[in-house]
Amino acid sequence: MEAVTVVAHPLVQHKLTLMRDKKRSTKGFRQLLNEIGMLLAYEVTRDLPLELVETETPLTTMMAPTIAGKKLVFAPILRAGVGMLDGMLSLVPSARVAHIGLYRDPETLTAVEYYFKAPSDVAERLVVVIDPMLATANSAVAAIDRLKDRGARDIRFVCLLAAPEGIQRLTSAHPDVRIWTAAIDTHLNDHGYIVPGLGDAGDRMYGTR
Ligand code: URA
Repeated sequence: MEAVTVVAHPLVQHKLTLMRDKKRSTKGFRQLLNEIGMLLAYEVTRDLPLELVETETPLTTMMAPTIAGKKLVFAPILRAGVGMLDGMLSLVPSARVAHIGLYRDPETLTAVEYYFKAPSDVAERLVVVIDPMLATANSAVAAIDRLKDRGARDIRFVCLLAAPEGIQRLTSAHPDVRIWTAAIDTHLNDHGYIVPGLGDAGDRMYGTR
């Protein structure tokens, strides 16, 4: 099983290119992030196991497939992760949501936690951690540390863009966590931004700065 899946679907790639454009409006950026969130939810759930249940159609009875086993938790890292949440929930409306509040200290680039709220049965669920930008991976590693402290054992990570440095850090800290991303860019700059990237995802989504 690959540690990293790059979702090469043309719709994802097209929408990502629109988002990279520095002239894209806040409204457009937010809408595209949600749309890509939906498409990435489709990919990250691609291998969920199915079971057959007896179903009565208007014509007959049949054994029809439904998703079996564990239920999902989407765990956006605040604040940019929230930008992909609605799109993902539109595909999996019954998923629970864990919120993980982390901010990046601009000096040290380390993740500082200010909020954590997860469903009490997180240990029994498949947890999909969401953060559009996997840069240093400090936030991703800290979020997954916290989820594991709470008993989560089956964790996946979804992002829009990843830097090679972030993938390396996340896969060495949490080798059991597979990553889904729309693209892997070339590198991080001295300020911890992904290059060529798309800038600060939270600022672009909320029109701040
Ligand atoms: N966070 C962002 O929003 N953008 C980056 O390039 C890196 C981290």
